[in-house]
Amino acid sequence: MSLFRTKNIDAMVAASQSGVSGLKKALGPTDLVLMGIGAIIGTGIFVLTGTGALTAGPALTLSFVIAAIACGLSALAYAEFASSIPVSGSIYTYSYATLGELVAWIIGWDLMLEYGLATSAVSVGWSGYFQSLIHGFGIDLPTILTAAPGAVPGKHTLFNLPAFLIMMAITTLVSIGVAGFARLNNIMVAIKIGVVLLFIVVGVGYVKPANWTPFMPFGFHGMFNAAALLFFAFIGFDAVSSAAEEVKNPKRDLPIGIIGSLAVCTILYVAVSAIMTGIVPYQQFAGVDHPVSLALQYAGQNWVAGFIDLGAILGMTTVILVMMYGQTRVIFAMSRDGLLPAKLAKVHPRFATPFITTWVVGIVFGIIAALIPLNILAELINIGTLTAFSLVSVAVIVLRKTRPELHRAFRCPGVPFLPLLGIAFCLFLMSNLQAITWQAFGIWLLIGFVVYFGYSRRHSKLAQR
Ligand code: ALA
Repeated sequence: MSLFRTKNIDAMVAASQSGVSGLKKALGPTDLVLMGIGAIIGTGIFVLTGTGALTAGPALTLSFVIAAIACGLSALAYAEFASSIPVSGSIYTYSYATLGELVAWIIGWDLMLEYGLATSAVSVGWSGYFQSLIHGFGIDLPTILTAAPGAVPGKHTLFNLPAFLIMMAITTLVSIGVAGFARLNNIMVAIKIGVVLLFIVVGVGYVKPANWTPFMPFGFHGMFNAAALLFFAFIGFDAVSSAAEEVKNPKRDLPIGIIGSLAVCTILYVAVSAIMTGIVPYQQFAGVDHPVSLALQYAGQNWVAGFIDLGAILGMTTVILVMMYGQTRVIFAMSRDGLLPAKLAKVHPRFATPFITTWVVGIVFGIIAALIPLNILAELINIGTLTAFSLVSVAVIVLRKTRPELHRAFRCPGVPFLPLLGIAFCLFLMSNLQAITWQAFGIWLLIGFVVYFGYSRRHSKLAQR
């Protein structure tokens, strides 16, 4: 039974509200929506839409809608948790309080893969736009340093140098603690939303509706495969809940932040993908790693395309930053609970950050960014995240049974039907991922079980009590 031991919700909530964490409660609903958008819009829309268009054709717009429904249903479950257990640690903490330690471990282990690999994947996207930008100034890197081995068919590439370097730069920032991070983040997010709107406003005039037919050249199969890949574009709204202890009115504002940021991004994604596939015949996206700015180049708007490159670069930088923070926070929370060695939560005396952990994470995922192609990374992240999202929906149903009286400022509608539908959507998207993704995920889980039964189970703070 010890596998299912749970943390006490009331004690956690009381501790977080008494301010023992020492964190300042300064964030309001607008900050949270911006924070969510900061974590969401990145490589998914700016890069993977190219592969998505090749997989689904113009039906890419519907692929976004399908992925958004899966996320939206999970977001409702998230919002209920965030409003009833406003404690940092996000879904790892929620599951520790409801489904027990083993499931919490699996989720934490998944999240480590998800956030860590997301930093790698977004750095690869960053690299593509960076190279497109410097190309505009007549600068090109030697081909072998432009991408991971085998990433570009027909080209001999070995190491994605820009992706590695941006990871090192961000690791430096995170490890010494970025002063004024929230303000810098808000500015970069505003620029990012600005360039997406610029694309929509300029691009819409160049749409040729003829490019939208045939709308579904690869049938439902292509559309669903693209949805499973582009699910990646929505990952990040969960980052809002990790700020729980720094929010002024968490029970009201967290659901607004989670659902609001997801809604805004869905509208932008559908508009961008419709315009992109309306300007450029979808076949032309083959081998392109900066599809959004390509669309404007295709329309002859090279200057605007340059702005899009710049905005995309800044925008993806915020995603890497937020994901790197998320990664260190999850490791921090897990080692605070005893499931990982206490050393990993060691704080640097001068910088007040988990310095060593940050660098280990940065170097490992920096090398992965340099050596593994984006599509493989994105699928792996998706399978981990979809698993975690399904478990949140399970947890919401369980908590209604085990703690019916718990005060919930936001209640997920239609329990248990909507969460069950959410689980079905997540499983369906997972079934559209490639076999190799499933195998790699299986191996990762297996390693997780070995660590749990070999170490964490005995060292858990709950076990010692
Ligand atoms: N949703 C994030 C992105 O697309 C991870 O970059």
